[in-house]
Amino acid sequence: MQVAVMGYGTVGSGVVEVITTNHESIVKRSTQNELEIKYILDLRDFPGDINESKMVKDFNVILNDDEVKVVVETMGGLHPAFEFVSACLKTGKSVVTSNKELVASKGYELLTLARENNVNFLFEASVGGGIPIIRPISQCLAANEIDEIAGILNGTTNFILTMMIEKNMSFEDALKLAQDNGYAEKDPTADIEGHDACRKICILASLCFGKHVYPDCVHTEGITKITLSDVAYISSFGGVIKLLGRAKRISDDKIFAVVSPAIVMNGSQLASVNDVFNAILVRGNATGDVVFYGKGAGKLPTASAVVADVIDCARNADKRKPFGWGDSVENYVADYDTDVNPLYIRAKTEDKESAVKAIEGAVGSIQLLTNDSAPQNEIAFVTKSDEEKKLVAALKNIAEIEIESLIRITDY
Ligand code: HSE
Repeated sequence: MQVAVMGYGTVGSGVVEVITTNHESIVKRSTQNELEIKYILDLRDFPGDINESKMVKDFNVILNDDEVKVVVETMGGLHPAFEFVSACLKTGKSVVTSNKELVASKGYELLTLARENNVNFLFEASVGGGIPIIRPISQCLAANEIDEIAGILNGTTNFILTMMIEKNMSFEDALKLAQDNGYAEKDPTADIEGHDACRKICILASLCFGKHVYPDCVHTEGITKITLSDVAYISSFGGVIKLLGRAKRISDDKIFAVVSPAIVMNGSQLASVNDVFNAILVRGNATGDVVFYGKGAGKLPTASAVVADVIDCARNADKRKPFGWGDSVENYVADYDTDVNPLYIRAKTEDKESAVKAIEGAVGSIQLLTNDSAPQNEIAFVTKSDEEKKLVAALKNIAEIEIESLIRITDY
């Protein structure tokens, strides 16, 4: 089976490397279907590269070659990836992508095109890099009603938070180290502001709950406002801060989905996921909690997931795997502040004693937290579990405090 790869960057070159290096075992697993890279599309020149003879700059070379049955899209970004992938599907070529932005924004459209043209559109590598998660959800956990899914979905932010928690490093220094180590992008906005995690939870929630979840419907907070003071208070409470993408089923036409810093208590399977590692917890009604853990990024782990999808396409050369989700419905994602959790709050106050009285009068009993290096005019506490909207409205009415930090406490 002839394969074309669009985009010869980190992941694309990894795909070519994995297909070349593991050629024999891949052929066995593809039910004897030879996999051969025919073209590599990239606008850049790669003089002296071992695959130089396969390089093309014109997408139409791939599109018009009927021998190419599977196209791998590892260009990233929405355009021209969307146009190229659409055209491939329309001409009867299956497409495999690692592009989370593309799947999160255009997944339903592309899955529909794949169905109409009886080809496959697969994207195991779009979430969790080398961690198998898309196929396990759609196949291995298919007997379950999935109630909830939560994940540490971005390696860069997990590395930064780990440095803050374990090394007492400031956010700025930890980000610089992540960049120096090559984890974060030069412009790390999509990582630290939560957009990357948002795209990934949208894909997972679409798959788990059956309707497309668009990124602009999901309330997203990054980690830029987390301070070492928050880290210390939460440590004294017995937990750690993680950037979590979370989604839960409310009904067939309503889900809850949010990306934000969240507290997981020590002992939780997510609490010990450190450095650049990712983990995804799936709560099924038959299985209970199942956790997937591993390298969420990187050349060969991500390429491994892409090539597994290519093998799947080769195995299902003349048929389409039933896979995907339906269209969205209006107001599919509930307001983020309707969720029910305890909240961690750090606030400025000039008079702690009267602040505590006022807070307990407004939201009931609280647990006060301590932090050795806390300034005198600061208070930190944990509320009891209640609807976030209700808790925040009551706390904002209290003249004695000025809220500086709010972090949701989870039960994972
Ligand atoms: N920037 C992403 C991360 C890469 O840090 O997880 C993988 O999607």
